[in-house]
Amino acid sequence: MSSELDSLFQEFNQSLGTVKTKAETLDLKSKFIGPKGQISLILKSLKDKTAEEKKLIGSKSNEYKVKIESIIGEKLSLLENSEINEKLSKSWIDVTLKDSNLDLGLQAAGYHPTSIVQREIEDIFISMGFDVLDGPHIEDDWHNFAALNVAADHPARDMQDTFWFPDAVHLLRTHTSCIQVRGMEVKKPPFKFVAPGKVFRCERTDASHEMVFHQMDGMMVGEDVSVAHLIYFMKTLLTEVFKRDVEVRLRPGFFPFVEPGFELDIKCLICSAKGCSVCKHSGWVELLPCGMVHPNVLKAGNIDPEKFTGFAFGLGLDRLVMMRYGIDDIRLIHSGDLRFISQFKSF
Ligand code: FA5
Repeated sequence: MSSELDSLFQEFNQSLGTVKTKAETLDLKSKFIGPKGQISLILKSLKDKTAEEKKLIGSKSNEYKVKIESIIGEKLSLLENSEINEKLSKSWIDVTLKDSNLDLGLQAAGYHPTSIVQREIEDIFISMGFDVLDGPHIEDDWHNFAALNVAADHPARDMQDTFWFPDAVHLLRTHTSCIQVRGMEVKKPPFKFVAPGKVFRCERTDASHEMVFHQMDGMMVGEDVSVAHLIYFMKTLLTEVFKRDVEVRLRPGFFPFVEPGFELDIKCLICSAKGCSVCKHSGWVELLPCGMVHPNVLKAGNIDPEKFTGFAFGLGLDRLVMMRYGIDDIRLIHSGDLRFISQFKSF
């Protein structure tokens, strides 16, 4: 059997010389060391052999398996490189081509409306002494849920349909509120910051719902921060963004990370509150949930809730963009259609 292995390895080496493509290389691999490959079959047949044969043939088979694995790896990368070289040798670049002929994103289309509004709001908050923080798209359970007072069995987890990774710990962040937790990790009160970014939810899309959309959280923590501060900053934000009076309503809202919690809705500017698919014929659009930071959230951020209080909000940025420009379907915002984006040139 030992000599059978030697001749199999010799046969492998001879066949390797005739192989020309990646597919043929992979076929050769499976012929010798795939689950039904000849060397694998020898290994499987060892169960009927003596202990001495098992030791000898087993170690020799494994030695050949490792060698074949590495030879196949080298062959595949050689083939890969020669494919790339072949493609490169056939491609060419016309360095004399005039750039004015190209449909460059920024020249032709300007900035994306969400970027325009996001930067405007960042500037409004920066002028009021806020910092701007960022955080990762891939989050963990602690930052997205647990530290925000949403325990594993909390029904509020069902409010946001989550894209989980197979380890059941990591996820695509469902809201920018996780940056509140990251902010508390690096800042000592008093502090105030906003945190814009993309969020992800496994949701059915419609005129006002996307699976990937933008939010901007804000958080202010200090001694004696109250609902009056919250209302002042929300009012300033809306007046500065819309540059005119817009009708809003504040109603109680439940979020485990704030107490009390509010929903701030804006009167639908798409249909002037007559009823449309964006406001679901209610005349109002949910825009800016907010509230006073729950003591458990402050504790999770190592902040003493006896000494400090805070407010937090979570603005639906794309919905604000829709209200500002009269866009009647959120899916247009994410369509990547230059005809749509080119209507928003300014910054
Ligand atoms: C939250 O995500 C909370 N983290 C907000 C918050 C922060 C509350 C701080 C209190 C304190 P909610 O799931 O309601 O809450 O989303 C916030 C806003 O995002 C909504 O009001 C809405 O404007 C927007 N939004 C929610 N789901 C979608 C969606 N699928 N597509 C587009 N916008 C959405």
